[in-house]
Amino acid sequence: MLELPRRNILLGAFGLAGLAAVNACGGTTAVPPTAESVRHAEALRRRPGQRVVTARLTPRPVTVDLGGPVVNTWAYGDSVPGPLLRARAGDLMRVQVDNRLPATTSVHWHGIALRHDMDGVPGVTQAPINAGSSFTYEFTVPDPGTYFYHPHSGVQLDRGLHGALLVDDPADPGGYDVERTVVLDDWVDGTGRTPEQVLKGLTEGSGKGGKGGGLTPLLGVAGDVAYPHYLANGRVPAAPVTLSAKPGQRLRLRLINAGSDTAFRVALGGHRLTVTHSDGFPVVPVTTDALLIGMGERYDVLVTVGDGVFPLVAVAEGKQGNALALVRSAAGTPPSASARPTELAGKVTLGTDLSAADAVRLQAKGVDRRHDLLLSGSTTPYRWTVNGKAFPDADPLPIEAGQRVRLRFKNMTMMFHPMHVHGHTFGLVRGGARKDTVIVRPMQTVEVDFDANNPGQWMTHCHNIYHAETGMMTTLAYKS
Ligand code: C2O
Ligand code: CU
Repeated sequence: MLELPRRNILLGAFGLAGLAAVNACGGTTAVPPTAESVRHAEALRRRPGQRVVTARLTPRPVTVDLGGPVVNTWAYGDSVPGPLLRARAGDLMRVQVDNRLPATTSVHWHGIALRHDMDGVPGVTQAPINAGSSFTYEFTVPDPGTYFYHPHSGVQLDRGLHGALLVDDPADPGGYDVERTVVLDDWVDGTGRTPEQVLKGLTEGSGKGGKGGGLTPLLGVAGDVAYPHYLANGRVPAAPVTLSAKPGQRLRLRLINAGSDTAFRVALGGHRLTVTHSDGFPVVPVTTDALLIGMGERYDVLVTVGDGVFPLVAVAEGKQGNALALVRSAAGTPPSASARPTELAGKVTLGTDLSAADAVRLQAKGVDRRHDLLLSGSTTPYRWTVNGKAFPDADPLPIEAGQRVRLRFKNMTMMFHPMHVHGHTFGLVRGGARKDTVIVRPMQTVEVDFDANNPGQWMTHCHNIYHAETGMMTTLAYKS
């Protein structure tokens, strides 16, 4: 996403001191990444004898076979998605990133309530990682759950640059026999257009972005970009991955939407899904036919596997096409690449339909600070805003440590926006699910609460990467 413009970069080393100065307001200063309070918040997460999980990511240009189509792209290794990273809650993660891309990059740990200076936002939390340079991220992972990582630089997320990050719960009650992670993605890179060209097409109105989506009852305008492929774990539907299990086994699926402009409607033929977690946090379990997953959202579901071969279908909501994986417990002919299980037309669940499990429900508390976020925009010119301003010209939203904060996302457009908050997990008001990304449907308002307990400057934005990059992004600014 957008890096700060040159004028800020010039104000201080890496532009970080510059940001603090620019944001100064009413005699108080925005907490910078270098603040003592940031170090202190991390110190509170650390434990003696803390386990250290080390990993290395090497973003670089590669040629990848998507199961037929062979594409040149950028990825964290030889395949898409990138390597699965896994830790236990409370571990210290130390990830060295060696940038072999012909561009600056960064890595954001989506959904993790981590120390501000490791959040991976160039110009706000760190300097961009230059081509040929390295940066080591080091942070405690406080909460278990299903997360993912991706760059926070331009529209690089719409390349092959993303991977799952799973944080295990040492006290997980289990309740399943096998577990599989499914990363969903909308794919354009290497098919004649790069994401940067798609963005250029959108902003120049040349039509090169493609006509994205139609009108859908649930989401309004379904997207801005027509993608040639939709992938499950890096494969097109003609060459799907197989998730093996035995008949009768309980299968936990961790579903991640790493797409840039596509919500997926997910169902497993012949099965109902029991939703157990949303964005890593447990919910009061709900059984449904299908789930609607916005960009940046994650859901864990349980299924009791039947006897046979079943299509796990992720339809690109309001667009042409789908992603596919197979759940197989017996020999048999696989379903066709374009199978449409009847469950897709059954009960569809969204994050706003879920309630937090007791253990993670936000404590009842008076709201200390309220912020409205008016979501507006237009396609000609292609520009998306929060409170009438396009990032980086946004007005930061001031908050203070210790406050209960209520955000009101008011969607003034005919298109859905999956709104994401960095560094915190919010609760949908009135006992709704704990989440970090929530779909705000056209002309609707979604209210969320969170406790300001993680000092820093935290991006809050639409997880449609083309919306974020053209302005629908602001910051929650802790004041000191
Ligand atoms: Cu996954 Cu700022 O986003
Ligand atoms: Cu949006």
